[in-house]
Amino acid sequence: MRMTFRLLLLLSLWTETAHSDLRSLDRNLTEEHERVLIRTKRRWVLSTIELQEEDPGPFPKVSTQLFNDKSNMHKLRFSISGQGVTEDPKGVFTIDPFSGVVSIHKPIDREMYPVFMVKFDVTDRETNEILDKSLSFSVAVKDINDNAPQFLPEVLHTTIPENIQEGVLPVSLQAKDKDEKGNENSRITMRVVSQEPASPVITLKPLSARASDDNIIAQLAFTGCFDYEKAKTYKLLVEAQDHGNPALSSTATVNIAIIDSNTHLPVFTATKYNTQVMEMETNKEILRLSVEDKDTPNTTASKAVYKILKGNEEGNYKIETDLKTNEGVLTVIKGKDYERTTLTQLEISVENEEPLFLCIDGKPASPAMRAARKPNTTTVEVKVIDVNDPPVFQQKIQTVYKKEEGNPGEVLYEPIVKDVDSDVDKIRYELADDPAKWVKVDPKTGKVTTVMKMDCESPYVVNSTYTVLIRAIDNGEPPATGTGTLVIQLGDLNDNAPYLTSNISVMCGNKTDRVMVKPDDGPFSFSIASEDKELLSMWKLNPSTGSESSLISLKRLPYGNYLVPLRIEDQQGKVGLDTLNVVVCDCGDKDVCLPHFSNLHGASLGILLGSMVLLALLLCCCFYWEHKAKQFTQYLQDEGTQTLIIYNEVGGGSLAKSLDECTDTVTSYISFCEDSCISTMTGGIQ
Ligand SMILES: *[C@@H]1O[C@H](CO)[C@@H](O)[C@H](O)[C@H]1NC(C)=O
Ligand SMILES: *[C@@H]1O[C@H](CO)[C@@H](O)[C@H](O)[C@H]1NC(C)=O
Ligand SMILES: *[C@@H]1O[C@H](CO)[C@@H](O)[C@H](O)[C@H]1NC(C)=O
Ligand SMILES: *[C@@H]1O[C@H](CO)[C@@H](O)[C@H](O)[C@H]1NC(C)=O
Ligand SMILES: *[C@@H]1O[C@H](CO)[C@@H](O)[C@H](O)[C@H]1NC(C)=O
Repeated sequence: MRMTFRLLLLLSLWTETAHSDLRSLDRNLTEEHERVLIRTKRRWVLSTIELQEEDPGPFPKVSTQLFNDKSNMHKLRFSISGQGVTEDPKGVFTIDPFSGVVSIHKPIDREMYPVFMVKFDVTDRETNEILDKSLSFSVAVKDINDNAPQFLPEVLHTTIPENIQEGVLPVSLQAKDKDEKGNENSRITMRVVSQEPASPVITLKPLSARASDDNIIAQLAFTGCFDYEKAKTYKLLVEAQDHGNPALSSTATVNIAIIDSNTHLPVFTATKYNTQVMEMETNKEILRLSVEDKDTPNTTASKAVYKILKGNEEGNYKIETDLKTNEGVLTVIKGKDYERTTLTQLEISVENEEPLFLCIDGKPASPAMRAARKPNTTTVEVKVIDVNDPPVFQQKIQTVYKKEEGNPGEVLYEPIVKDVDSDVDKIRYELADDPAKWVKVDPKTGKVTTVMKMDCESPYVVNSTYTVLIRAIDNGEPPATGTGTLVIQLGDLNDNAPYLTSNISVMCGNKTDRVMVKPDDGPFSFSIASEDKELLSMWKLNPSTGSESSLISLKRLPYGNYLVPLRIEDQQGKVGLDTLNVVVCDCGDKDVCLPHFSNLHGASLGILLGSMVLLALLLCCCFYWEHKAKQFTQYLQDEGTQTLIIYNEVGGGSLAKSLDECTDTVTSYISFCEDSCISTMTGGIQ
């Protein structure tokens, strides 16, 4: 501690004003003194006390000496009180009561006690009379640079996104110096001492608005751009130095971790994908597209955003990102119509959620440069697979009414089958069920024909019906099958099915009478219910549709009985199978056979046949056995004979007909029978 006499001052009435704010005193002590001097009476005399911080001693150290102008009249006793004496920190100051010499006893930390308010009093040594008003005095401690600036905090950890814009970084550093404000000892200068790695250069930018010289805040700033691939962390050493003599300094460490930004575009792992979807299928995932992205996984920098650029004009598809795998999940949301599209090409692009950022040669890329980096695209070829629709029978269950047991070869049914996506001509038919093995199906047309006589008594006939199942198989991939049911109602005709009103007809020449049908539900369609080529070459129905039809012979036919299976279908699809018994005969110039046997009832005709045949045979045998043996054999097998016999019998009216007549007629019929009627007529009689 050092004490100096500079001025001798007489101070009075200063005491009250001196109790102002310590801080302002500290700052303006000298000015204050000078102002007060001018307007006070001089009574106390005291030099300015200069007290240096952290004075090393030796102690006690004389600081100053106090005088009072009452000293010529009294024996004075000085006393001291206040901070540093009677208040903490006690024991700093003492005064010699007789000489008024003030001594200092210990070093003082200005930062703790920047100023001491002390009070001096003077009394008469003998009377203890207070001789003057107390002198209050503030002792400012003179600062030395014993504090280095300090960072708050000293170590900083921070993260910065790679794509941060050039300029300030969101990192600020604060340093304070405890030494006297406004003093060079507390004036701080901050600088970056070192940076690792060196690029981009990080600088300090003072935040002037919030700073004072002893408490400064600076923000980090940079120019250029960060590149995560090049440097993921930065270490910065920043120094704060005061301007004391000698200057003191300290450092802070700033650790910066760079967060990866979107600097890489995702790319598809394949330039082309193929997938398929079943026709009309919806809400089904059909493909997963994967991408590669060099940016950090599970961040917005790598999270893929997929878009369908082309091929989805009708909104059949959608693509979404699988948050776990980052894959693009392609889904059909609307079924596709096979008839219109079988192959769709989708163009799909991928980008990241975060916009692209590029640091090129230490400079952020311009928007134009970034735009030049086009998102990667891929092509997805979606094959729409036709779901092979099965052939459909127009009539799922077809009932056919069959009055009597017909001959094999009778056509029962020819299905009408439709197939929306296959060629109907390529459909193949087969029997799915035919328990009694009575029918066959034409594999090409599906036409069902009898191969045996159907027997009403068969155990397979239930409730007078026999059921056949037919399969229609298309040529699709894989083939699809449709099934139709044919129900054959045997025996009594159902009331609703069309049938002939008369099953016997006489033909004079090549045209029959009308074929009559039950007249209710016309029009009907008529056809010959047989596949027999010969039969088909003999007969024709004209018209084939209408409320009635005529049977026409297509070639000249020998006289005789013919059984023609007919199929009559009404508009509701009810089918009646009936057989027309046609008698071809000589009518002469009349419209009826000669003689009029056609009026005979069918039943009685049948009964007669057997006996007549025998009689006729006997007669004929008698006369022609020897001469016409060969022809006779044929004649025996020929149904035409029946007609002949009937003809003769009816025509002749009695069995006593002349042998000559018989002979002639038989001869003429034999010649016909040699032609064609044998096969046609076989089985005509049981
Ligand atoms: C991404 O996050 C998901 C869960 O959100 C997790 O299942 C997956 O494994 C993560 N992927 C990576 C590469 O970390
Ligand atoms: C997508 O990226 C791959 C891999 O880099 C590349 O082979 C392909 O050409 C890119 N496609 C387009 C359309 O840019
Ligand atoms: C037989 O047919 C009749 C009338 O068509 C019907 O009422 C009956 O239930 C049928 N019986 C069987 C066993 O199918
Ligand atoms: C003709 O119909 C009757 C009853 O209507 C029947 O008894 C007869 O068997 C039928 N004849 C032929 C050949 O169809
Ligand atoms: C019947 O036959 C004759 C010749 O035999 C022929 O001229 C005529 O057109 C035929 N009639 C019919 C309707 O077929």
